[in-house]
Amino acid sequence: MKTKAAVIWEPGQDWEVMDLELDPPKDREVLIRWRAAGLCHSDEHIRAGKGAPNTRYPLVGGHEGAGVVEAVGPRVERVKPGDHVVCAFIPSCGHCRWCSTGHQNLCDLGAFIGPGSMLDGTYRFHARGQDIGSMCLLGTFSEYSVVSEYSCIRLDPAIPFSVAALVGCGVTTGWGAAVYAAQVHPGETVAVFGIGGVGINAVQGAKMAGARHIVAVDPLESKRRWAKEFGATHVASNGEEARQLIQELTWGAMADKAIVTAGEVHSDVAMEALSVVGKTGTVVMVGVSMQGASVKLPESLITLFEKRIVGSLFGSANPVRDIQHLLNLYRDGQLKLEELITTRYTLDQVNQGYRDMWEGKNIRGLIEYPA
Ligand SMILES: NC(=O)c1ccc[n+]([C@@H]2O[C@H](COP(=O)([O-])OP(=O)(O)OC[C@H]3O[C@@H](n4cnc5c(N)ncnc54)[C@H](O)[C@@H]3O)[C@@H](O)[C@H]2O)c1
Ligand SMILES: [Zn+2]
Ligand SMILES: [Zn+2]
Repeated sequence: MKTKAAVIWEPGQDWEVMDLELDPPKDREVLIRWRAAGLCHSDEHIRAGKGAPNTRYPLVGGHEGAGVVEAVGPRVERVKPGDHVVCAFIPSCGHCRWCSTGHQNLCDLGAFIGPGSMLDGTYRFHARGQDIGSMCLLGTFSEYSVVSEYSCIRLDPAIPFSVAALVGCGVTTGWGAAVYAAQVHPGETVAVFGIGGVGINAVQGAKMAGARHIVAVDPLESKRRWAKEFGATHVASNGEEARQLIQELTWGAMADKAIVTAGEVHSDVAMEALSVVGKTGTVVMVGVSMQGASVKLPESLITLFEKRIVGSLFGSANPVRDIQHLLNLYRDGQLKLEELITTRYTLDQVNQGYRDMWEGKNIRGLIEYPA
């Protein structure tokens, strides 16, 4: 069949929206008609050629998405045609060492994200005589995709596709970074560096976990304003301002937790986060650094004050359980999801959507496909 999709042919080029050939689903694969796709910063890293070193081009972008199962291949057990689904940006097989020990976010099948192929190593999208991969095995910047059943999570049809899509990455990543990776406790002081689609949900997670002070740090005024609407108690426009503020708020004890959700992580922002946490404080690294980049930090601050640095992928959450869990909190009015969607775009406007992201116009931009 044919599908219209946004493709990156070479790193550094714009998204090209064009018709592709799409093969039918094979063993344990599912054909999805997407209804909504979120514009996460990670696709921009890939577009700019700054993603994981083993990224293969060309590929169809998009890894936040929700839609309807149109058809299934042989041996599919998790979903059936007609089901509404949200897709997790990391598949979970359920039986590898990580899935079977409660770390579905670290499933061994995540290894296929770099090549962007299906789990049998072949490709379902084709054009110009080439095989085309899918971002995070999904490729939600397409009217239709074939995905692994291990990426699919069934959705209550009462939940709008638009809000469900965001829980496939940004919401779970940010919320889980605060609740699971940082383990924010009631009464703690938390700093969040970078208030995008991910960081705003770290603010929501910290609030839900009972933080006393939530200091949102972002150079953009629009982001600081949104942060307050989502639960930040204080805002700062840079690390030094945040450090002084937190020093005052905590009488010098400093923050318990800092969460780094900046669009691009480098030594400066990592150092700022390390400086705002006090003794035994934890810094959670969520934002991604440029390809091959290192982060340089002073050993003495870490050793002498027993500070901890923790990585967090997909909010250190268990997507199969936590995506449902977060959608229940949304349904009960405890988690803001509709308010995250600032601007809605058509697939043809994907490049505009990313320009708006850079200009700070969106908490999250969303592509919507016609019903
Ligand atoms: N670890 C994971 O599982 C995971 C999952 C999704 C996204 N990510 C990464 O998380 C990061 C954030 O993604 P997003 O979609 O929220 O991006 P975004 O572009 O929507 O938001 C990033 C925000 O960071 C701010 N910022 C930039 N530099 C800053 C600095 N030095 N200090 C404070 N704020 C700063 C920007 O102004 C912007 O508001 C990206 O690097 C993305 O690739 C990681
Ligand atoms: Zn993402
Ligand atoms: Zn697994």
